[in-house]
Amino acid sequence: MEVLEAIKSRKSIRGYKPVPVPQETLAQILEIATRAPSSDNTQPWEFIVLGGEVLDEVKKAVEEKFALEEELHPDFEREPPRTGVYRSRQVELAKSVFQLMNIAREDKEKRNTWMLKMARFFDAPNAIIITTDRELSTPMLPFSLGTLSQTIALAAMNFGLGTCIEHATVFYPEVIRQILSIPESKKIAIGIAIGYPDWDFPANKLQSTREPLINIATWYGV
Ligand SMILES: Cc1cc2nc3c(=O)[nH]c(=O)nc-3n(C[C@H](O)[C@H](O)[C@H](O)COP(=O)(O)O)c2cc1C
Repeated sequence: MEVLEAIKSRKSIRGYKPVPVPQETLAQILEIATRAPSSDNTQPWEFIVLGGEVLDEVKKAVEEKFALEEELHPDFEREPPRTGVYRSRQVELAKSVFQLMNIAREDKEKRNTWMLKMARFFDAPNAIIITTDRELSTPMLPFSLGTLSQTIALAAMNFGLGTCIEHATVFYPEVIRQILSIPESKKIAIGIAIGYPDWDFPANKLQSTREPLINIATWYGV
């Protein structure tokens, strides 16, 4: 797939076909994605690739935690409540998704069902969990994990796959840590749902908005 086409057409996929991704394909994607740049080429990442019964177990455990509505405590702290334009964009996103999914604002049950689907990696057949050494917690670390995550998302498109980078899947890291025997020395950074997109799934029709360049770029000498 041509690079600009991939960048422009990538979107978060929240509904998947129940078709497992071949192991070789997932390996190829990760191999390619490790070409992502990182601060001082530290490559501060490791992958846990999930499918089948183990993924089912993780989904169930994360979903159960969500259902208890305990306070969230991800290894990478959640951002504080947003204000101003950042809050507006967040609200716009939620409204658009709920509209497509036919979930009314006051329909707590349906909203909750959606949250639980999010906890279950949107029922994707596979998932990638990115971990990093706890000792590497430098301010630059999230940049490196960010370039990696986007590279995974773009590389996946070459194989007809969709992804959703999901902080929500790692809000309760201890359950994932326990099932997958991840040592305390590793931070669980983020989960990525991956699979073949179900293009009939309403939320996959979403084209999220972007601020026009004129509002965010300042030019000097060009
Ligand atoms: C760090 C990060 C965390 C995210 N966490 C979630 C999440 O927990 N749940 C979710 O549905 N989407 C999540 N997303 C996807 C964003 O909502 C999405 O990228 C944004 O709305 C723009 O839409 P697009 O990806 O379709 O272009 C996350 C994206 C990033 C980069």
